[in-house]
Amino acid sequence: MKQTFLAAALCVVLAACGVPQPPATANQAPPDATPAATNDGAARAPSITGRPGKAAIASAHALATDAGFEVLGKGGNAFDAAIAVGAALAVVEPQSSGIGGGGFFLLRRASDDRQVFLDARETAPAASRPELWTDPQGKLDRDKSINGPLSAGIPGEPAAFAWLAQHYGKLPLSESLAPAIRLARDGFPVYGRFAKSIASRKPVLSRWPSSAALYLGESGEAPVEGAVFRNPDLATTLELIASKGADGFYKGEFAKRLADAVQAAGGTWTIEDLAAYQVREREPITLDYRGWRIVTAPPPSSGGIALAEMLNILAGYDLAKLERMPRVHLTIEAMRRAYRDRAEYLGDPDYVKMPIAELTSPLYAAGLRASIHPSRATPSDMLPGYMPPVEAEHTTHYSIMDADGNLAAVTKTVNLALGSGFVVEGTGFVLNNEMDDFALLPGQPNAFGLVGGDANAPKPGHRPLSSMTPSFVIGEDRVGVIGTPGGSRIITMVFEGILAFVDGQSAQQVAANPRYHHQYLPDVVSAEPNAFTRDETRALQDMGHIVNDAERTWGLMNVVGWNRKDGTVEGGSDPREEMSSARVQ
Ligand code: DON
Repeated sequence: MKQTFLAAALCVVLAACGVPQPPATANQAPPDATPAATNDGAARAPSITGRPGKAAIASAHALATDAGFEVLGKGGNAFDAAIAVGAALAVVEPQSSGIGGGGFFLLRRASDDRQVFLDARETAPAASRPELWTDPQGKLDRDKSINGPLSAGIPGEPAAFAWLAQHYGKLPLSESLAPAIRLARDGFPVYGRFAKSIASRKPVLSRWPSSAALYLGESGEAPVEGAVFRNPDLATTLELIASKGADGFYKGEFAKRLADAVQAAGGTWTIEDLAAYQVREREPITLDYRGWRIVTAPPPSSGGIALAEMLNILAGYDLAKLERMPRVHLTIEAMRRAYRDRAEYLGDPDYVKMPIAELTSPLYAAGLRASIHPSRATPSDMLPGYMPPVEAEHTTHYSIMDADGNLAAVTKTVNLALGSGFVVEGTGFVLNNEMDDFALLPGQPNAFGLVGGDANAPKPGHRPLSSMTPSFVIGEDRVGVIGTPGGSRIITMVFEGILAFVDGQSAQQVAANPRYHHQYLPDVVSAEPNAFTRDETRALQDMGHIVNDAERTWGLMNVVGWNRKDGTVEGGSDPREEMSSARVQ
């Protein structure tokens, strides 16, 4: 069925056969919603020249942004700063990412304009097999998939830091990690989201004395706002990585300690699993959109491919001539179609064959576009496909640009709040629960409601499919570095962020804009409380959309930008999080 749909969409372009068409209605197409013939962006895709002369860093926490500038001040570049910010976040925002997790680092090296995607996603241990996560009835045991060591993949973050320092940075790892080591040892003030995340995971953290000792302390309760949180064990772990590099973590005594503790608590990690971990350098997904070049995340992220589908669909419309609501409608319809494909085809590119060229081609998008009614919602059940993800919030994104124009867009995670909740005694960090991002059992939804099949099965050594979408937006005059956490909603946030940036909005506006989201199933437009006026919600409903406009806010977007024409450098951090911080200097 999958291949059939792909073929069907292409057939529309050739006017030979059709995909399911939305019902004809009394609402006729506004004339300017008619698709334009081609995406003319490709011919004009720009590259980056010159240097910004100033640096910008936007991250989820002011202390992490400071750590990045500290390292830049010592002669480091954006990649050293990416280590410093990332490690500082591992200390001050452990609910979102850390040494026990993984992430994606999209890099642009100014000296040769090389753009590369560093994949530090976790891998499945060698003993992985679906029965590990089932109950006696053969059903998915949610507790095993999200709590404790069985839910943890082999971490990628320590290897990424070492790789960045070795291949891209100017400073030794010890210097880039120094601010984080200091923060871990001296402590930082407990803030709202940190305290709330710990409180929400208290029942799980309480299962292991090592986890309870770190996060609940003697009181057995989450720390209170304003108290100082110290983590000397994490300082020691970071020092080990600083002095011995990746080997300090993945080999020898430390690796044995991790494997022994994981096995004693019911997991399967071995020292061989740890020793085998490697980051991968991959070609980013690139596409051209209205004269802008978008550089973004390839598999094992689903983000870049979904983004390419959505932008390619919109590239065929003359959006500037459209009123806001027809434009919103087309944007939602693009989201619906991209998310239908998201879970169908994608998995770990080291093992899974994927029709990437087809999915990202303007020709395929033209087929999808032809199935969009200009003023009526297409019911999702008229599009063949799989089930949906739902959102959640514990991952982090930061954006960095240095004065030379080196760029880093980094999204990293331990998956859910405080990952698996399991801390190996004396190490100071939680292990991730990224195994839940696999389709552990075919057709059984994960914590985001995602289902999948063999392409994303938890096979030994495989990397689970991700939504994380660190991206660059490169225009004639402006360059942007963008990304956000937010589970399955990451992709639509980055999509809307790119559209806003391309429209000329500032980095701060892009980070602050109200958001809406559609992910194919459930067949609902989710909207932040201030995304639509009542009239706008009604206009969408009149087009046949089901709108939930009373949702909580979501995401934590951090953006930096550079205008090469007027020489300005800017940062934008998400006002939804009080600790987020963007600075330029
Ligand atoms: O890689 C992924 O897609 C997920 N592990 C990301 C999780 C996430 O963004 C959670 N919350 N914001």
